[in-house]
Amino acid sequence: MSRATITVDRDFTIGPVPRRIFGSFVEHMGRCVYTGIYEPGHPEADENGYRTDVLELTKELGVSVVRYPGGNFVSGYNWEDGVGPVDARPRRLDGAWHTVETNAFGLHEFAGWAKKANVEIMEAINLGTRGVDAARELVEYANHPGGTYLSDLRKKNGASDPFGIKLWCLGNEMDGPWQIGHKTADEYGRIAQEAGKAMRLVDPSIELVASGSSNRGMPTFGEWEQTVLGHTYDVVDYVSLHAYYEEKEGDVASFLASAVDMDLFIEGVIATADAVRAKGKHSKHINLSFDEWNVWYQTTREGDDQLATIEARGGWHEHPRIIEDEYNVTDAVVVGTLLNSLLRHGDRVSIANQAQLVNVIAPIRSEEGGPAWRQSIFWPFARMSALAKGEILRLATSSDRFDTARFGDADVVDASATWDEESGRIALFLANRGLDESAEVAVTLRGFENARVLGAEVLTVPEGADRFTTNDQHHHDRVGMQPLADVAVDGGTLRATLPALSWAVVEVEVAKA
Ligand code: AHR
Repeated sequence: MSRATITVDRDFTIGPVPRRIFGSFVEHMGRCVYTGIYEPGHPEADENGYRTDVLELTKELGVSVVRYPGGNFVSGYNWEDGVGPVDARPRRLDGAWHTVETNAFGLHEFAGWAKKANVEIMEAINLGTRGVDAARELVEYANHPGGTYLSDLRKKNGASDPFGIKLWCLGNEMDGPWQIGHKTADEYGRIAQEAGKAMRLVDPSIELVASGSSNRGMPTFGEWEQTVLGHTYDVVDYVSLHAYYEEKEGDVASFLASAVDMDLFIEGVIATADAVRAKGKHSKHINLSFDEWNVWYQTTREGDDQLATIEARGGWHEHPRIIEDEYNVTDAVVVGTLLNSLLRHGDRVSIANQAQLVNVIAPIRSEEGGPAWRQSIFWPFARMSALAKGEILRLATSSDRFDTARFGDADVVDASATWDEESGRIALFLANRGLDESAEVAVTLRGFENARVLGAEVLTVPEGADRFTTNDQHHHDRVGMQPLADVAVDGGTLRATLPALSWAVVEVEVAKA
């Protein structure tokens, strides 16, 4: 049995829960759009071709904001191709994913879907093959009320009201040599500054995200943020981070400690942004947009065809299957800890988008003409999005540790917590990263009284199965949340026993002491 003690205090808070950290991502990649959120002719499709089964799961997931239309895709995309009469839209080659893009789905279709899903739009502009002009024209098309060529064109194309898009990404992963139109930090910093400036001249109310490092392992990490923010500090509000984790070469201990890397990545970007602030004598802070994160088996799972050549795919196709990772129990526990890391840094991480929403490394899966279902990683996201309310509590944690090859030693128990004064509820999100032993956790609730457990659930290895268990199109419920029996409040201390390899949520009703 492992042990951990956690102390929370009503007066020690980090800040309000930023709802935008429960974001997702829809890219024109593989089957995320086509046969994912959009499949005219599917038995569950509505009159617009939106899959209502996927829409319902998106709502249940509790997604607040969705980044669109890419990703690597956006760096070769002309937004104009996706508006106007559908039968007049051009078919194009998408070099990023070796795919034929029909453009049957574009900005209007996405805005209609976002409205039905009740999510905010986060629009990315192309700073790979396009630049300042296309960026400011897109803002005018999307946000200007009317009376100009572009805003009247939007009306003619069916949207009399502006889309009112507030959040904009200035390009995608521009530090990556794989990116179409890849740039040096100075080249990117300058074009981002000028594009952002021109976009704000059209609509001063927008918020802008500068493209940061594609991951913490990039050789330019740190230097990239410093140079880019040196150019863009006055214009942008956020800098982006991207990170994907996987179990490599059987090193499950390091995989389970992925959130240690996420913590370090976040803290490194905060330090760099604040150093630019100090050097430039700026008063505002640049906050973080972790706008791509997830588990993604980029190197180790067979059948991953993301890097497949056009020949290997047998030519150019519309919406081929790409990186449709099937997630198991271990992946769900890691995703739970990544959510803990994002929440613990909620004073500076203002936006986060799990990549992606459907089919492509996604919590939701769907089959063409067939069902839609929840993957294992759906559950920690859905539970945290529903229950993390009010203020983020600062935790004082003391846990048994375990060794990892990549990240040194790490806490066995990983946690985050929130306190919502309005409902009088605390939500505790607890992971046991121990593979073989259960963990006894004692949480001292300072500044609260009359604590009572309202509910407790856990995701863990199902009875008689192993940690590689997944859901699939024939088994939708093998991995999910179950009641956590072993939890009680004793005086001012909550005690819970977490099964080996698990992620749990405990809701506690309290009064102020
Ligand atoms: O989410 C899949 C891809 O990962 C995105 O297109 C890209 O931005 C990242 O490298």
